[in-house]
Amino acid sequence: MMATPPEIVKRVEELRGQLEHHNYLYYVLDQPEISDAEYDRLFAELQKLETEHPELQFPDSPTQRVGAEPLPGFTQVRHPQQMLSLANARNGEELVDWHRRVARILEDRGIDPESVVYVTEPKIDGLAISLIYENGRLVRGATRGNGEVGEDVTANLRTIRAIPLALRLNPGEQPPAVVEVRGEVYLPLAAFERFNEERAAAGEPTFANPRNAGAGSIRQLDPRVAAKRPLSIWCYQVGYTEGLEPGSHWQALEWLTGHGFKVNPMVERHEDFGKAMKACLAWEARRSELDYDIDGAVVKVDSYAMQEVLGAVGRAPRWAVAFKFAPSTAVTHLLKIEVNVGRTGALNPYAVMDPVEVGGVTITHATLHNEEDIQRKDIREGDWVVVQRAGDVIPQIVGPVIQKRTGAEREYHMPGVCPSCGAHTVRPEGEVVVRCPNKSCPSQIVESIKHFVSKGAMDIEGVGEKLVERLFNRQLIKNMADLYFLKPDDLLGLEGFKEKSIANVFKALEDSRKRPFSRVLFALGIRHVGSINATLLARNFRDVDSLMSASRDEIAGVEGIGPIIAEAVREYFDEPHNRETIQRLRDAGLQFRLETEAAAATGPLAGKSFVLTGTLGSMARSEAKEKIEAQGGTVSGSVGKGTGYVVAGENPGSKLNKAQQLRKTVLTEEEFLKLIGE
Ligand code: IVH
Repeated sequence: MMATPPEIVKRVEELRGQLEHHNYLYYVLDQPEISDAEYDRLFAELQKLETEHPELQFPDSPTQRVGAEPLPGFTQVRHPQQMLSLANARNGEELVDWHRRVARILEDRGIDPESVVYVTEPKIDGLAISLIYENGRLVRGATRGNGEVGEDVTANLRTIRAIPLALRLNPGEQPPAVVEVRGEVYLPLAAFERFNEERAAAGEPTFANPRNAGAGSIRQLDPRVAAKRPLSIWCYQVGYTEGLEPGSHWQALEWLTGHGFKVNPMVERHEDFGKAMKACLAWEARRSELDYDIDGAVVKVDSYAMQEVLGAVGRAPRWAVAFKFAPSTAVTHLLKIEVNVGRTGALNPYAVMDPVEVGGVTITHATLHNEEDIQRKDIREGDWVVVQRAGDVIPQIVGPVIQKRTGAEREYHMPGVCPSCGAHTVRPEGEVVVRCPNKSCPSQIVESIKHFVSKGAMDIEGVGEKLVERLFNRQLIKNMADLYFLKPDDLLGLEGFKEKSIANVFKALEDSRKRPFSRVLFALGIRHVGSINATLLARNFRDVDSLMSASRDEIAGVEGIGPIIAEAVREYFDEPHNRETIQRLRDAGLQFRLETEAAAATGPLAGKSFVLTGTLGSMARSEAKEKIEAQGGTVSGSVGKGTGYVVAGENPGSKLNKAQQLRKTVLTEEEFLKLIGE
């Protein structure tokens, strides 16, 4: 066999190094430095070279993350060190009890309890896994199983881009012979919702919560399935090691951060228990802001020597405790099922329930998705039901409490006519959703305008749902474009509107004209086009004309889009009155082409990455983000090596601590405004 030319070997190594580095920037630090297109180009080049030179194929290559062949079954593997579980503290008192016990045991052993350092971490509600790196390479990944024996799910875990296939070593550093890294695999909430929407659209059963969806992906025998799901991981422990001896948990976490692992930025070290406790309570209040579910906070004694002294009872160590948040499920009485008509004409059934507290919030309504889902779960009017809230996700009904049935419960069927306009409803073949086919159904129009002005879309502050309804009912607006042709006099007649409030509405409308193309595209409310798909479409087609003239196949060809979405996009643009709306929105001066990339290369903040923390007095965070992006900068959710500036508003969170630890430039709001020229 002919020897591989050395320049090819060199190029392949170079590409692998670059791709893994960009994976790391994107998936671990959340701070990409190159565009997706550039990444794809490098990836394609490597794939081509590997195909041409099979002798260079190698399981650790980034190209191998896309999912190997299906397995006949999972092999059982024994963990080198038992995977323990955590004892719970259900409230503040129990947490204090735990602390007292720790202090007493240590004191009995002659250790000053005042010297104990605590680490607090979010308790991630996902799937616990163990990763083994031998001589720096990932050789095995396993589920927790019963704590002693788990399942070998290496092929699936390899598809998770946030898991390094090899340790990131410092120049000249030798990897430890063995290191076991433990963490929690999870599916981000946004991805979960999108995933469920797609499943529902395809008529497949939806998952009850992100944990089930994530765990289900890891237990799939076909790694190509896991590869398609945007799973991620938070690493929280170093287990078995050979050739590495951290002295404390904090040191272990620092080692993880320094070697390419994703460690949660909320982890904190406290020299005083009161502060640790405060951190736990503060997170409970903020849990709904996160993009993943946490079901509690974990408090750990930092020093390994002290951990050893404290030992374990049964399967739970005494040196750690899980402070559980208020449960996210509850049981209540389902009074009746009602229907509203969404912006795409879908009739959405929802449950009206006796008020009940779930996860610290009182709820009275829960979505029921569609008739099939109601029947599959066998939910009836009058049932007692288990309701669930996961993070920020809308409350869901898990199922009825069958034992509580009296026989008076009523089975539910969707109405044959639209509750808004009276049109006969339709259920297209193969779809689970019942629809109102009337394009001028008032409910559909009002809902689409509400979506248009909403925070994630055009974010027109001052034009809330109520005002949209009032304007529509008075026939001052008939669609979203009409908003931009309103005159101040139109609002004068509305109760509660004075000069100042009217000026605010017009200022908000004016500001919204600058929203980027992807936001406008999302705001249009095209079926299946959420903010992620809108961004994908905007990036690929770059302006609305190219998108409008693209064929169904061209649209479906965009990575991440697929035929169902493409069909919906085509349908939207084929509708003459939608084209008319777009023309009027253009006349109103909205952005219909991608501009960020030009700014990204040439803007004054080009190449600078920002992290925002705390509340800004002069603008919303989303606005600050837009301003940064408009000048070529990027904004990321967490502080890492690549962070350029951290902007700290009022009550900054742990990101500020992280920024200080990493010695990043911290800007006050005033300094930030100066920097962006305001
Ligand atoms: S430490 C002895 N830290 O909670 C230490 N666990 O009930 C045991 N979990 O199986 C693990 N976030 O799946 C630890 N920051 C965190 C965690 C965490 C979530 C899960 C993990 C474990 C379970 C224990």
